[in-house]
Amino acid sequence: MIIGVPKETYPGEKRVALVPDTLASLISKGASVLVERDAGKMAGFPDDFYREKGAKIALSRADVFARADAVLQVRSLGANPERGGVDLELMRPGMVVVGHCDPLRALEQVSEQAQRGVTLFALELMPRIPRAQSMDVLSSMATIAGYKAVLMAAGELPKMFPLLMTAAGTAAPARLLVIGAGVAGLQAIATARRLGAVVEAYDVRPVAREQVESLGARFVELGLESEDSEDAGGYAVEKDDDFYRRQQQALGKVVGDSDVVITTAAVPGGKAPVLVGKEMVSGMAPGSVVVDLAAEYGGNCELTRPGETVVESGVRILGAVNLPATVPHHASQMFAHNISTFLGHMLGDGRLRIDMEDEITAGTLVAREGRIVHPQVRERIESTEA
Ligand code: NAI
Repeated sequence: MIIGVPKETYPGEKRVALVPDTLASLISKGASVLVERDAGKMAGFPDDFYREKGAKIALSRADVFARADAVLQVRSLGANPERGGVDLELMRPGMVVVGHCDPLRALEQVSEQAQRGVTLFALELMPRIPRAQSMDVLSSMATIAGYKAVLMAAGELPKMFPLLMTAAGTAAPARLLVIGAGVAGLQAIATARRLGAVVEAYDVRPVAREQVESLGARFVELGLESEDSEDAGGYAVEKDDDFYRRQQQALGKVVGDSDVVITTAAVPGGKAPVLVGKEMVSGMAPGSVVVDLAAEYGGNCELTRPGETVVESGVRILGAVNLPATVPHHASQMFAHNISTFLGHMLGDGRLRIDMEDEITAGTLVAREGRIVHPQVRERIESTEA
């Protein structure tokens, strides 16, 4: 089978779905790889690097789609609403498409791909089980986002992060609060600690405490954490508005005492909960910084605007979007490792075997033979049609 890698077309996207070092594992399972010209250039992987590892270079996007049996993308149609439509015209019935496609929100685009007869796999639906850890792009990309969020905050803050005792006096360390200690949050804590900040973190899942403390941060106790805040997949469950109101009240003081607040609170497939209200921002000292990693899905801060910096009472609120694309080399390496391991687990003797008994395959397959086959996606589509 031929695996195709088109150049990413989402505005500002610099990642590529496969890097040269990941080709060998796919080729050893009988696949050949066709990469669109310059697909890896922005991430530091020129065409020659792919050729050296056995890939062919296609001169056009249309050529990749015409010849490939499976197309691998960082952002396929649903996650690339403006420019992904071009690909829809190029997709052939029966071809496999693997990538981020925002399956629980981009319902129209997912349906269009199903109607086109595409076999669509959504990497966002990867089950959080140990066997799938090496295929989990959300975790890889969140790791990068958590790291980069801290660097952005350090760049904006009119203070330094570490405690410095110099002949010119003592600079107190910056105080940083992370709300949502999942993958991105834990990496933000680790990065901020390396830079010398005093770090606190909060999460609704009580199990997060140990992880927060193991990184040298203090866990903020609000009395609102509970075991039932976590679903079977290890994700946070959605709470009601009253809960979020109580949480805002309880968080007010610690937010006010922080120089930097990094928010990462996510509920899969849903809108991000608002945890930092306008008054809480007003309670922060001028010059403080909020980096909102949930900006793309509504934001954890009431004032966030995705892709923009809002200034309120002297506090800068950064609506951080697509941070992994700002670290395209390592982000592509990690993504490519995840996606090639995923594809490789179905690949043998140059053929793809779709085994619906396999939890990983069944968990990520969205559409096949003209139908939406993923129960959660189908449910969402049916509820919008009703
Ligand atoms: P995750 O699911 O591992 O972590 C989210 C954490 O938030 C969980 O620990 C959860 O318990 C916690 N949480 C949920 N509701 C909460 C509440 N009310 N109060 C406190 N904590 C709460 O998710 P992950 O992978 O770390 O991603 C975090 C966010 O970063 C997501 O919104 C994701 O979309 C975003 N992200 C943003 C990127 C960007 O470039 N801006 C790139 C990658 C991810």
